[in-house]
Amino acid sequence: MLKDLVVQNRSYRRFYQEVAVDMDTLRELVDLARLSASGANRQPLKYLLSCEAERNALIFQHLAWAGYLVDWPGPVEGERPSAYILILGDTEISRSSGVDHGIAAQSILLGATEKGLGGCIIASIQREKLCEALGIDPRYEILLALALGKPKERVVVDPVGPEGDIKYWRDSEGVHHVPKRALDEIIVG
Ligand SMILES: Cc1cc2nc3c(=O)[nH]c(=O)nc-3n(C[C@H](O)[C@H](O)[C@H](O)COP(=O)(O)O)c2cc1C
Repeated sequence: MLKDLVVQNRSYRRFYQEVAVDMDTLRELVDLARLSASGANRQPLKYLLSCEAERNALIFQHLAWAGYLVDWPGPVEGERPSAYILILGDTEISRSSGVDHGIAAQSILLGATEKGLGGCIIASIQREKLCEALGIDPRYEILLALALGKPKERVVVDPVGPEGDIKYWRDSEGVHHVPKRALDEIIVG
């Protein structure tokens, strides 16, 4: 069951934009992050939620998508995320959020997957510009953006080939392939 969720929880970057993700759903997902582990239990993470077209558009323009797909500038209008959760670090609680935001992101995305949604962690963000555009208080730093929606693409996991290439790629049918290293390669002792 958990393995099924983990396997299904791929990075999705194309969505049925017309399928809304409402605020209650986003709050439920953040509640999973709230209950997750936090270094020294300091809980420095705060969240900014967006599921409304104008705010979504504002966030979208400050994100970079799928660096390895060099000919693909990101999802077209109509295939963009229906919602976002921005994970913020509250610097008045802690100067560094350690790895808390990675754990929070995974909890949120597993919860989204369980609900038939999907998403993508995005760290490539024009942070200063986005902070300014959203009027985010300087005490918060943007750590990650989670794009969310109903996935409109198929993503499959492949074994990394003998050449060792880990770059994801998209085939002629539009299926997104993600090479993953073998279990025996990653267990070193
Ligand atoms: C910390 C982190 C930052 C990421 N940043 C981006 C990003 O800026 N843009 C993007 O399109 N994908 C981003 N991703 C998604 C990765 O590209 C993706 O996890 C990887 O290709 C493996 O695919 P999978 O999530 O389906 O296993 C990020 C993932 C992580 C964990």
